[in-house]
Parts: sequence; C-alpha cells; structure tokens
Amino acid sequence: MAETKGLFVTFEGIDFSGKTTQISLLRDRLLEAGLDVLVVREPGGTAISEKIRTILLDRDHDALSERAEIFLYSAARAQIVDEQIVPALQQGKVILCDRYFDSTTAYQGYGRGLDLTIVDTINSFATNGLEPDITFLLDIAPEMAARRRVAQGAAPDRMELQAGAFHQRVREGYLQISRKHSHRFRVLDAARATQDLAAEIWETIRQTIPPSQQ
Ligand SMILES: Nc1ncnc2c1ncn2[C@@H]1O[C@H](COP(=O)(O)OP(=O)(O)OP(=O)(O)O)[C@@H](O)[C@H]1O
Ligand SMILES: [Mg+2]
Repeated sequence: MAETKGLFVTFEGIDFSGKTTQISLLRDRLLEAGLDVLVVREPGGTAISEKIRTILLDRDHDALSERAEIFLYSAARAQIVDEQIVPALQQGKVILCDRYFDSTTAYQGYGRGLDLTIVDTINSFATNGLEPDITFLLDIAPEMAARRRVAQGAAPDRMELQAGAFHQRVREGYLQISRKHSHRFRVLDAARATQDLAAEIWETIRQTIPPSQQ
C-alpha cells in the first residue's frame, strides 16, 4: 500500500450514538487549528456511493439478501476509498469518516451472523487494506439510543427497523472488535455529555498532530 501522510480517523457506534455530532465538533476544532479536513460518511460520500446508499437504506428493500447487503456496503466503500480517502491522505489531510469497515464487521458479521473470516477478507479487499489510524467507538445501550431517536422524532430507516436483539449484538460486536484492535480503538461512553466527549476526542487527536500545527 502507498505511504500516506494524512491522518485517517473513523467514528463507529450504533445509530444515535452521537457520531455525526462529534465529527462536526471535531471538524470545527481542526479547522480552527488551521488543518485541512475532509469529512465523509458511509455508505456514501461519492456520487456512485450515494446511489448505493439509497438502495441500502430503502425501507421497501426487505428482500435484500445478506450477501447482497455486504457487497453493496463494500462496493460503496471501495469507491470512496479510491475516489476520496486515499487522495486526501496523500494530500496530508485529516479525514473524518462516519462509519468504515468496522461497521460491516459489527452489523453484517456480529449482527447478521455472517462468517467473520469472510467478512474480514471482504473488508480488506474493499479497502485495499487501508486501516484507520484512530477509531472512536461511541458505545451506548441500544435502549438509550432509541430514546434519542424518539426525542428527535426521526423515522427509522431499513437498518434501524431491525429488532432490539440485533442492535444488542451489534453493540457487543463493536466491543469485541475494539478489544481485537486495541492499538487503534478509543472506546468512549457515549451516554456522557456531548462537550465532555468532544474534549476527550480532541485531546486524543491533538496528541497526534505536530505542535507546529496546533
Ligand atoms: N452526548 C450526547 N448526549 C445526549 N444527546 C446526544 C449526545 N450526542 C448526540 N446526541 C443527540 O442524539 C441524536 C443522535 O446524534 P447523532 O446524529 O450525532 O448520532 P449518529 O451516531 O450520527 O446517528 P446515525 O447513525 O443515525 O447517523 C441527536 O439528536 C443528537 O443531538
Ligand atoms: Mg449520523
């Protein structure tokens, strides 16, 4: 794999754990520090990947098979890696990615029960082996995440309509993944106040940025 000089940061966690909230706060801090930032979301982030996203989240797609699902997520990811993430890393940018391949391991592997070895192989093929430098896991009980959804009055998408036991498996899956890849994972209790979490995330990132750029 080509050498890259940027920083690749991913955010993981079940829906309503606060990923997008924290990414937006971190982006602001990075921009204030004068750093070049690219924010992308998965699945999506390119014209082709956004089209794949609409297939994946469509509530009418009950018939989508588990194998088709993992390939669609992976297809969207391959496209964003090639089109956005690798070029931005080569330009020295900080990339903040809202979900990446740990989501596939958590949802399709632990959640749906697909063979974890096969999932790892598909993940590494889709990304050309590009791993994040740092992954923040926003860990939260599915019940609390569901309360946030209700408070926001949001309608659930196809993935969010899965039963509670599914989201519990996904949460546990994420925790297992974080233990396996502890060198890049930072696990955060996502029930904490937004600003506390943002301060801890910024402290972690700040330590990886050369002092001249802070
Ligand atoms: N630490 C927090 N405490 C309380 N509420 C929060 C916290 N962080 C985020 N929220 C609220 O929870 C909701 C979901 O947050 P957010 O959209 O950031 O989650 P997400 O992980 O990006 O969800 P999704 O996967 O559905 O995109 C929002 O209404 C947000 O304001
Ligand atoms: Mg979000």
